[in-house]
Amino acid sequence: MKLAPSILSADFSKLSEDIKTISSAEWIHIDVMDGHFVPNITIGPLIVKALRGHTEQVFDTHLMISEPEKYLQAFVDAGSDQITFHVETVTDPKALIDKIHQLGIKAGISIKPATSVEMIEPLLGKVDLVLVMSVEPGFGGQAFIPESLEKISILKAYKVKHGYRYNIVVDGGINAETGKLCVEAGADVLVAGSYVFGAKDREKQMGMLRR
Ligand code: DX5
Ligand code: ZN
Repeated sequence: MKLAPSILSADFSKLSEDIKTISSAEWIHIDVMDGHFVPNITIGPLIVKALRGHTEQVFDTHLMISEPEKYLQAFVDAGSDQITFHVETVTDPKALIDKIHQLGIKAGISIKPATSVEMIEPLLGKVDLVLVMSVEPGFGGQAFIPESLEKISILKAYKVKHGYRYNIVVDGGINAETGKLCVEAGADVLVAGSYVFGAKDREKQMGMLRR
């Protein structure tokens, strides 16, 4: 099981210090929002680039933006190690996955709470990760939507049946209780924002999640 703290809940006035407090995390989850696909605006490639020199950790970039194809190169140049986009934002998701791979990094596909796993079934053999949104994308600190657990189980079943290699990532409302349920359902990676950064001792809090 891997942890991916979301810096959306970090202190933006001292991001480079805050990421030092999560140095045992395998991935750093970067939430990119455009005020169009979701009703919030957050991080762009400039911030990713500014942080890149401060850690070797995997930069897991979650694009919650319309027309993601326009910004792939900029995020790769900034230092993203993997890019996940929303299936709801594109007409040809296969082409976008290929494009991300051509840029030399890992590709992920994400689904909002209202989008079914069936929508992405034809893509499952091509992606490196599938990100199940367990809250409506846009804000940190929301409550976990329990129906997400079934999506994780379905994704796990597909993975076993077809020998697929994608990581099952769950994002939104993760704490020690919901995180445990997700891992039991088959999740490989837990994204957690407010749970990790809301604690004084982040390493201790991540330890609670791992247990
Ligand atoms: C929500 C983002 C999440 C968010 C999770 O749109 O994709 O990554 O930061 O925050 P918590 O863990 O607080 O729900
Ligand atoms: Zn996210």
